[in-house]
Amino acid sequence: MACGANFLFAFAMRLDDILYSQGFGTRRVCAGLIQQGLVSVPGVDEVEPGTDLATDGLMFTVQGKSWPYQEKAYLMLHKPAGTECSQKPSTYPSIYTLLPSPLRLRPQKGAVQGVQAVGRLDQDTTGLLLLTDDGKFIHRMSSPRHHVPKVYEVTTKHPLEAAQVQKLLAGVVLDDDPKPVKAAACEAVDPHHLRLTLTEGKYHQVKRMLAAVGNRVEALHRSRIGGLQLTDELAPGQWRWLGADDLALISA
Ligand code: URA
Repeated sequence: MACGANFLFAFAMRLDDILYSQGFGTRRVCAGLIQQGLVSVPGVDEVEPGTDLATDGLMFTVQGKSWPYQEKAYLMLHKPAGTECSQKPSTYPSIYTLLPSPLRLRPQKGAVQGVQAVGRLDQDTTGLLLLTDDGKFIHRMSSPRHHVPKVYEVTTKHPLEAAQVQKLLAGVVLDDDPKPVKAAACEAVDPHHLRLTLTEGKYHQVKRMLAAVGNRVEALHRSRIGGLQLTDELAPGQWRWLGADDLALISA
């Protein structure tokens, strides 16, 4: 029988398990942090490893730093130039060094996993990068069937010509696939600034598309994914959590 009431289920967890799930180390390390008095929870006088807490909306402090409980972590990073989106970078520092260690140490099925970038940007590309430990989200966003528009601000070496914009919209053939790839939108903002929207994510796609129309990328910045815009509030190298509203903007 249908019932109009909304049921709210508050999940309670032991504090040492909470810290472990958020990437603060092994259960033993987490219990040690609590026993040494390095963990506090607003509104709770004394905490112990076994203190049960409702996780929904929980904030706690570890060694003076405040941290929100997140069942799954979703964040956006303003990727600076000269960083690689790899855990094992070859030449430049990894973007993962820009994140606090709990984000890199969050466990998954008992092993240290941390958050992962959703797709990659080249080392010299700047801008909006999503990271999460939600494997299903990564899979969904990376699926060729999932056409989330991504907006790139392209600085071109040569002045843009109307014919180049037309070709990018009509479709260009790249060297690895006979099927043409099209920009979902493309406008010349000024003679050397192109705003290009793509719904796929092929390797070096923007650079290869610009080369295919006889121009060249001098600088590349991703400014938007779906409806989520990278704003000036986040300086290069900074990150922030994504909330439900942000996630709704991405998949809208
Ligand atoms: N296209 C590119 O060529 N490079 C990027 O980093 C992203 C899209």
